[in-house]
Amino acid sequence: DSEKCFTCDSRDPSLPESHRIEDVIYLSGPHDQRTWWQSENGVEHVSIRLDLEGEFHFTHLIMKFKTFRPAAMLVERSADFGRTWKVYRYFAYNCSKLFPGIPSQPSGLMDEVLCDQRYSEIEPSSHGEVIFKVLDPSIPVADPYSSDIQDLLRITNLRVNLTKLHTLGDNLLDSRREVLQKYYYAVDELVLRGSCFCHGHAAHCAPAPGAPTPSVPGM
Ligand SMILES: *[C@@H]1O[C@H](CO)[C@@H](O)[C@H](O)[C@H]1NC(C)=O
Ligand SMILES: *[C@@H]1O[C@H](CO)[C@@H](O)[C@H](O)[C@H]1NC(C)=O
Repeated sequence: DSEKCFTCDSRDPSLPESHRIEDVIYLSGPHDQRTWWQSENGVEHVSIRLDLEGEFHFTHLIMKFKTFRPAAMLVERSADFGRTWKVYRYFAYNCSKLFPGIPSQPSGLMDEVLCDQRYSEIEPSSHGEVIFKVLDPSIPVADPYSSDIQDLLRITNLRVNLTKLHTLGDNLLDSRREVLQKYYYAVDELVLRGSCFCHGHAAHCAPAPGAPTPSVPGM
């Protein structure tokens, strides 16, 4: 298929030029093509927020980008239904430049907030991934059931802030706003892994106290 330009319009989700956030769920479209979410052109600060109906034990996030991965982004969470937020991890192609003061080398502390440089390179130009694991396998955990670790995994909301677009050197040439116009973020798969607190024996998850009333059947 050749690359052609179309104007996106997400007002009608049934149209092929609609790229809403629900399109990050891996389902193939009516003609078997992959669906994707796409951000507005030229807007660098975009956030994707997931509100869960209860408390979950979150373990990892995988995002697959249809075009360039962001030059910088961060993942943050709330464990109190969006009242307070804490950053889990920063991602940037150059951490000291984009997130000064955030270490990129782990010192061994389990809940340390780090900046990861592995997933923000300009290459590949398509199908690049960003992977975030709450418990980094390279950092040994003495007791995975300790309350500190359990707290670290606990979420009610997750937010991914995309904060910088890769601009292929165009930013060196022209005024910022105009140059950014041709760039956007596009995600064709978003996977979150975790489990609910089912106390080891429940057949389904019940909403946690304080959760908004579930409006989606079967949630
Ligand atoms: C990251 O940015 C800093 C500050 O602008 C610069 O000194 C450094 O060379 C950059 N590192 C890389 C690997 O490009
Ligand atoms: C992420 O984006 C949201 C919405 O724009 C903003 O309120 C929040 O402060 C951002 N988080 C960080 C850590 O910058």
